Amino acid sequence: MKLRYIKAYVWLSCVFVANVIVYTVVMLSRRPLDLQASGRSAFVGGHLRLWQHRDLQGLPLWNLLMLYMDQLDNPILRNATAQFNLTLPGTCGESFHEAAQRLTDFSSYPSHLQAFVLSMHCRDYPLLVGPADDEACPNGTQLLVAVKSQLANFDRRQAIRQTWGRSGLVRNVTVQTIFLLGRQGSGDGHPDLEALLELERRKNSDLLLWDFQDTFYNLSLKDILFLGWLRGHCPSVELIFLEGDDVFLRVDTLVAYAGSLDAVARRGLFAGHVIQDAAPVHDCKHKYYIPESFYQGTYPPYVGGGGILCSRDVAARLYEASCHLPLFPINNIYLGICLRELALVPQNHPGFWTFNMKAEGREDFCAYKELILVDHRTPQDIIRLWRGLHDPALAC
Ligand SMILES: *[C@@H]1O[C@H](CO)[C@@H](O)[C@H](O)[C@H]1NC(C)=O
Ligand SMILES: *[C@@H]1O[C@H](CO)[C@@H](O)[C@H](O)[C@H]1NC(C)=O
Ligand SMILES: *[C@@H]1O[C@H](CO)[C@@H](O)[C@H](O)[C@H]1NC(C)=O
Ligand SMILES: *[C@@H]1O[C@H](CO)[C@@H](O)[C@H](O)[C@H]1NC(C)=O
Ligand SMILES: *[C@@H]1O[C@H](CO)[C@@H](O)[C@H](O)[C@H]1NC(C)=O
Repeated sequence: MKLRYIKAYVWLSCVFVANVIVYTVVMLSRRPLDLQASGRSAFVGGHLRLWQHRDLQGLPLWNLLMLYMDQLDNPILRNATAQFNLTLPGTCGESFHEAAQRLTDFSSYPSHLQAFVLSMHCRDYPLLVGPADDEACPNGTQLLVAVKSQLANFDRRQAIRQTWGRSGLVRNVTVQTIFLLGRQGSGDGHPDLEALLELERRKNSDLLLWDFQDTFYNLSLKDILFLGWLRGHCPSVELIFLEGDDVFLRVDTLVAYAGSLDAVARRGLFAGHVIQDAAPVHDCKHKYYIPESFYQGTYPPYVGGGGILCSRDVAARLYEASCHLPLFPINNIYLGICLRELALVPQNHPGFWTFNMKAEGREDFCAYKELILVDHRTPQDIIRLWRGLHDPALAC
């Protein structure tokens, strides 16, 4: 009798110890395992294995912050964060001066990158204008097209509303378009457009506006704020298309493509014009300049400008991943980094034309037949293209 109890205790203890060991190993090796699975070590991203000792002070800022946030989120390693000698500002009101002090060449950063660094700890900006759910996604909207626009681009938004952005049924899928905006205050030398915006909001109720400066390097922030908003809204939405306001989108081709996928592929959908093996640009005059003191490593595969089609499931997971990753100034790459964190790979689709097409093909509407998206279009281009494609005389 007694022996049986002892055996049971020993057995239970072994199971318990084994569980603890498995838990510890999994927690400690979460990231490195993912990296090994992908077979590529080029994406540094600040990953550090337990047995590696790296000079933390020598790491570029982003890589350091990534490692820091990773350990903060890790219950076992959380206490080891003291070695970073780093504290994130407690509120959005404070600037991240500590980051600036760490960068010996901070004063040589372009001013917009300096502004990015000083506010990169903050992603908590209130929504100032937002439609109710029955306006943002009426009639059980299934495909939500979110267009990143800027306050002053009234004409771009109107061109989209008049053409491909009309809400309604497309191939039996309910589609709705909304616009994502930040602030452009008169303090930054912008004209005061508040009254016009109010008019537009009342007429269309398709605007979301957050209280942050709407600049190029804040686009990652805009993406994340939108994904965060989506978590609490529009439960009927299954697919999301995220893009800029200079884009011509063929919603019918897009819906047909999504419809051709099986349920599993639809659930894990993140598609667009995929760019592989890109690396930071170190030329300080370039639009996408990233200093070496800020980030080192290659970029993970990402979807280039223009637009991204993704499922609601992926959108929700991207948002969660983003909470554990420092913001990156280039928004497409930031989403690529979040995707990599989820061990997902973006899918390339040839219908995304994010490079400018040759001038001679531009008036040939048949050339646009297979297209999902083409970017760098003016409002007039968009309207002309829409009319051309809907011309009953068009024969291809
Ligand atoms: C972390 O460190 C603090 C003091 O340095 C200590 O009080 C606390 O118990 C530690 N927590 C863990 C989980 O080790
Ligand atoms: C921690 O950082 C501060 C500046 O942020 C610096 O003055 C201090 O020397 C650092 N301490 C260590 C131990 O590196
Ligand atoms: C919802 O659908 C009804 C009928 O199909 C239509 O009349 C109405 O305009 C739609 N509402 C919106 C906001 O699209
Ligand atoms: C369109 O969708 C509705 C409901 O979502 C469904 O009942 C109907 O059969 C569909 N029609 C076609 C032609 O697929
Ligand atoms: C982003 O927006 C915040 C909040 O308005 C602002 O403090 C910051 O300077 C902006 N960043 C850039 C790069 O413009």
